[in-house]
Amino acid sequence: MLSRRCALRWSIRLPADCAGSCALSLIRPARYDRGVRIDILSLFPGMFRGPFDESIMGRARQAGRIDISLHNIRDYAEGRHQVTDDYGFGGGPGMVMKPQPIFDAVAAVRAMDAEAGRVVLLTPQGRTLTQAIVRELATLPRLILLCGHYEGVDERVRERLVDDEISIGDYVVSGGEIAAIVLVDAVARELPGVVGSPASLVEESHASGLLEYPQYTRPAAFRGMEVPAILLSGHHGEVAKWRRRQSLLRTALRRPDMLARASITAAERAWLAQALATRETVAASEDEHTDQAPHSGPRRPPAIE
Ligand SMILES: C[S@@+](CC[C@H](N)C(=O)[O-])C[C@H]1O[C@@H](n2cnc3c(N)ncnc32)[C@H](O)[C@@H]1O
Repeated sequence: MLSRRCALRWSIRLPADCAGSCALSLIRPARYDRGVRIDILSLFPGMFRGPFDESIMGRARQAGRIDISLHNIRDYAEGRHQVTDDYGFGGGPGMVMKPQPIFDAVAAVRAMDAEAGRVVLLTPQGRTLTQAIVRELATLPRLILLCGHYEGVDERVRERLVDDEISIGDYVVSGGEIAAIVLVDAVARELPGVVGSPASLVEESHASGLLEYPQYTRPAAFRGMEVPAILLSGHHGEVAKWRRRQSLLRTALRRPDMLARASITAAERAWLAQALATRETVAASEDEHTDQAPHSGPRRPPAIE
């Protein structure tokens, strides 16, 4: 085995014959101080190169807030050829991940820490990831993420081994690795000290049950488009009020389902009803001047008041 130090002070052990696509065995960083431990079990641990080294996740690891270990399921497969998948009983397309390597991998990885951890299977059939679930996961000392591939994992894994099943949305990606990257990034953001300004977490979309207000940066005028004057006023109270109203309006227009669950005052509700009625009136008068039917394609952001 060769051993070299990477930029984030993790030891990465690469077999001497590795041409870059082999499994990574990541050892804890020296500054690890009992943040969240995340073990990821995958057939393609090389897929995690990059996303975990940069930006928020890179910082979270450097700060010792998150300790990620990658484990190649194939290392636990029995037999000379270390086969990890097979045809599904009953026929049908695609391969299914065999139970033996996964059961043994989970048992071995579990034993690496006194904390048993929650075994989470990434699957499009799981509960859909929300900010509330992210926060719940961020309170746990240890997560063991199981990434499926091909047609998925043998059902007995789900029945006996898995504590939780998470989906990143109602669509299918080719592997649980992509879903695990999404989940780990979202969890890392919730850990203390990871995101520079805690205030940005509070105001972010989904944090308070609303979508975030529109954001602008310099220049104040760009190709004929002006930043709303209130944002240049320096009046913090008025800016906060404008942002809150923009959040309400944006959520009402884009995600009325979220608005129904959000905590909103009676005065805000009244303002929103008025704002939406005004928009409808304006839209109706605009429709009178055009023959075009309303399209169902990508939506434009609501106009700024
Ligand atoms: C091609 S998918 C298999 C989908 C499976 N045949 C099904 O219909 O439920 C391969 C793997 O990608 C992962 N995956 C795909 N879509 C996902 C999603 N929306 N959320 C979480 N994981 C997903 C799962 O780990 C899954 O086992």
